[in-house]
Amino acid sequence: MAITISVLSQKGGTGKTTTVRHLVGAFRQTGLRVLAVDLDPQGNLSDYFDVDPEADPTIGDVLSGRATASAAIVDDVIPANLSLAEAEITLAGKMGRELTLRGALAEVDDRYDVIFIDCPPALGLLTVNALVAADQALLSSEAQYFALQGVEQALEVIELARDSLNPQLQWLGVLFNIADMRTVHSREAFEALREHVGDRLLDQTVRQSIAYAESAERATPIFEHRPDLGTDYLLVAAELLKRLGLYEQSAQIAALVPAESVAAVDDAAQADA
Ligand SMILES: Nc1ncnc2c1ncn2[C@@H]1O[C@H](COP(=O)(O)OP(=O)(O)OP(=O)(O)O)[C@@H](O)[C@H]1O
Ligand SMILES: [Mg+2]
Repeated sequence: MAITISVLSQKGGTGKTTTVRHLVGAFRQTGLRVLAVDLDPQGNLSDYFDVDPEADPTIGDVLSGRATASAAIVDDVIPANLSLAEAEITLAGKMGRELTLRGALAEVDDRYDVIFIDCPPALGLLTVNALVAADQALLSSEAQYFALQGVEQALEVIELARDSLNPQLQWLGVLFNIADMRTVHSREAFEALREHVGDRLLDQTVRQSIAYAESAERATPIFEHRPDLGTDYLLVAAELLKRLGLYEQSAQIAALVPAESVAAVDDAAQADA
């Protein structure tokens, strides 16, 4: 049985897709079998994984009942395209509309250790489907003062999914994303979040860098494009694997991070503090 993790946020552009791309990459480096599900009609995750844009069927067909999940898997990714927007509208009029993705993924569940779902930038029916299908919800939060508000709204939706259709759903954490911890602004926003969500906030943040846009454009993970920056996501992955009780894999990932780069990040944080 796979652990299913949905990555969501209340608004767009918080780094969800970039997070899924790199957590999938990092988890795979430990030998875990990981499926990535693109649940956004924008298809950004599919592009990042360099899936053929003509790939067919896609997650839209799966949610419409026209294809099975296994038929839609390409290189351990279930891709999405604009047809998902149409599928969402059709889905809205159906019985059990919130349970459709969970039902579809059950078929491939035993083939994977972990399934990551990349949610669209809205807390609508697709995100609800992702939360009902998930064991764990991971929030991506922009590194801004108003982050707190977004996190609160996303938490309400998690609560709703838990109260109604998925009482098992757990909250894996909040990732402080696209952060410039050299600024007072970001550090204060981080502290405000910490006060609010406590230990659910991941210690490791993801630094802001233009290299991520380049990495996405080239469909090359940051680990290859800029290994020096890639350590952020390796450390995020190590922290999450620990929370999931996968200690061996967590240690494996942590061992990939050169000691000097951990020290460099710590030094930079201290110099700015
Ligand atoms: N750490 C980072 N530093 C700078 N830019 C980043 C970082 N992570 C992601 N980006 C860029 O920010 C933009 C939004 O990132 P991404 O697509 O991952 O967010 P998203 O939450 O999935 O967006 P959407 O809500 O539209 O799906 C992209 O152009 C991406 O390349
Ligand atoms: Mg996205």
